[in-house]
This record gives sequence, structure tokens and C-alpha cells, in this order.
Amino acid sequence: MKNIILIGFMGSGKSTVGKLLAKDLKARFIDLDEEIEKRERRSIKSIFMSDGEEAFRKLEAEMVGEASALKGRVIACGGGVVIDKNNVERLKGSGVLIYLKADLDTLIERATRTSHRPLLEGDDPKEKARSLLETREPLYEAAADRVINTSGLSLDEVVLSIKEVI
Ligand code: S3P
Repeated sequence: MKNIILIGFMGSGKSTVGKLLAKDLKARFIDLDEEIEKRERRSIKSIFMSDGEEAFRKLEAEMVGEASALKGRVIACGGGVVIDKNNVERLKGSGVLIYLKADLDTLIERATRTSHRPLLEGDDPKEKARSLLETREPLYEAAADRVINTSGLSLDEVVLSIKEVI
């Protein structure tokens, strides 16, 4: 089985859906952010805070390289993985890229519900999410092999929709 790679904005459900999908397919699951945290023994937030975004992106690119060399996995990527076209190329070479799309309000609400997302810190997280999503949306669309519109779907329905398109 080729890798099944989930991309999309923060709060699009990549990790939750990825775990369920992997269970359903009896495949192994990798969450790139979790792998980075395990390896670094610190949170994404603390990597951003002490070393900055650029350092995080380097670690992310390394992890993309490693994960792309594996087979038969369900891979949940961080929301910013598509910024780097080398990441997209590598991921595309290793499997099918599924974009979990959702409507703006849902994403903004979900992405800003927790405080572990360094890119959304500050006075107006919702506005930050809105403007980031505006620049990211075309990147997700361009990278995706398949797009799943998750708005109004339950988690099980999202999993089913992915299984239908892979
Ligand atoms: C980021 C998304 C986060 C995490 C980091 C940067 C982004 O992952 O990789 O905070 O640039 O969109 P999630 O999409 O899993 O929240």
C-alpha cells in the first residue's frame, strides 16, 4: 500500500482522522508533529519559542524525508508542510495526498480552541488564522491528489470518504 498522506489547515482533523483511518486499514499511523516532539523531547510550541519557525521547518522537512521513505503508512502532516515545495514533491512521490478541507468558520474555531499552536498566538488568533488560511488554501489545493470536504461530516464519514477515493 502506498502511503496515505493527510494535509490541511490546523484544526482540519488530520491527526484524529488519520488515527481512525489507520486503525480501519490496519496500517501504521505517523503524526509528523508528534514524531518531531518525541525526537526533540520538547513541544512544537517550545521549538518555535526558543529556536523560531525556521528551525521548526528544518525539522519538519527532515521528518517528511524520513516518512516519505516508508511504505503503507497513514501520515498526518502539520498544516504548514505545503509551504515547502520539496516537502510536497517528496510526499507526492510516496503516496496519495488527501486534503481535508473544511469551511472557514469551523477551521478557525477548531484551530484557535487550544493554545498549543504558536502561529496563532497573539491578540487576535482568529484574524491570524483567517489570513494564514487565505495564503495556505491555494497551496493545499495545488498539492492535493484528492480533496475531501469534511464540513458537516462525522469522523466516521470522513474516514469512509477517504476510503472511497484512495
Ligand atoms: C503549523 C501547524 C501545526 C504545527 C505547527 C505549524 C502550520 O500542525 O505543525 O504549529 O504552519 O500550519 P497542525 O496542523 O497539526 O496543528
